[in-house]
Amino acid sequence: MEYKSLTNGVTLPKLGYGTFQIPPEDTKHCILEALQCGYRLFDTAASYANEKEIGEAILESGIPREEIFLTTKVWIQDAGYAKTREAFERSCANLGVSYIDIYLIHQPYNDYYGSWRAMEELYDEGRIKVIGVCNFSAERLVDLCMNSRIQPMLDQVEFHPLFAQKELNDVLAMYPCQLEAWGPLNEGQRDIFHHPELIKIAAKYDRTVAQIVLRWHMQHDVIAIPKTVDPQRMKENMAIFDFRLDEADMAAIDALDIGYSEIIDHQSYMTAKWLNKYKIHD
Ligand SMILES: NC(=O)c1ccc[n+]([C@@H]2O[C@H](COP(=O)([O-])OP(=O)(O)OC[C@H]3O[C@@H](n4cnc5c(N)ncnc54)[C@H](OP(=O)(O)O)[C@@H]3O)[C@@H](O)[C@H]2O)c1
Repeated sequence: MEYKSLTNGVTLPKLGYGTFQIPPEDTKHCILEALQCGYRLFDTAASYANEKEIGEAILESGIPREEIFLTTKVWIQDAGYAKTREAFERSCANLGVSYIDIYLIHQPYNDYYGSWRAMEELYDEGRIKVIGVCNFSAERLVDLCMNSRIQPMLDQVEFHPLFAQKELNDVLAMYPCQLEAWGPLNEGQRDIFHHPELIKIAAKYDRTVAQIVLRWHMQHDVIAIPKTVDPQRMKENMAIFDFRLDEADMAAIDALDIGYSEIIDHQSYMTAKWLNKYKIHD
């Protein structure tokens, strides 16, 4: 494992485990498998409706709480100061924990300034170790950094070889705020596992395409949280700490960037409308 220290001194594993879209009945055994493979950083969200199963699996594993890094997120519906404080307590209760390691604003919509004030307070109270955001573009991030008492320590955004968010990277480096990659494998889209350039590089290092892509993340000093329900793939994705891509191969992978997302466009009014309509509780 490689580690990354954030601005506030908290050190996180650079490779974690994503839990979006794992079928509810599979969540518990997937988390137990992932723990066995050595994953210690877990990513969930109130909107994934799996916090309870994740908390149960961690408890059942017997691994001490302080060895685990739990991430969860406040959904749009719970934006605002008071609602975020309530949502935070709900997530803690679901996960069966008294503190959250990484608490994030899930989407850059609704009253996220109110949420941020609540999160700053919870951070001061020692209930959250790292506060941050998700899906914040460069200008929203700058705005939040310039108008808050505590600056976000992490921005979880889509990031992979086909969408490497160059401008955002420069802005994050300025503050600095750590980039955490969701969709590090492009959610398997655009046939990424059969991309000719990636296959060529994978053959050179005798690795799989997934390993090459995740190794590229590590060398960009990004935290990545790939999701898989397959125990073999959990191991495969973790086996990336015994080789390095050379500069030419890093550059060849950098050159695959198409400059836009094929998964979601947060700048589109349709995305804002669709996500704002999505309710996770009454
Ligand atoms: N903040 C946000 O708005 C946001 C948005 C999206 C995701 N996330 C977080 O980021 C995590 C990761 O992103 P993601 O799940 O969207 O996409 P991802 O990790 O890029 O890709 C997951 C897909 O890749 C497959 N896969 C994983 N490892 C593989 C391997 N070694 N070989 C071949 N296929 C492999 C998985 O299939 P199998 O499961 O069948 O193996 C699944 O179809 C999520 O789980 C979630 O925790 C956050």
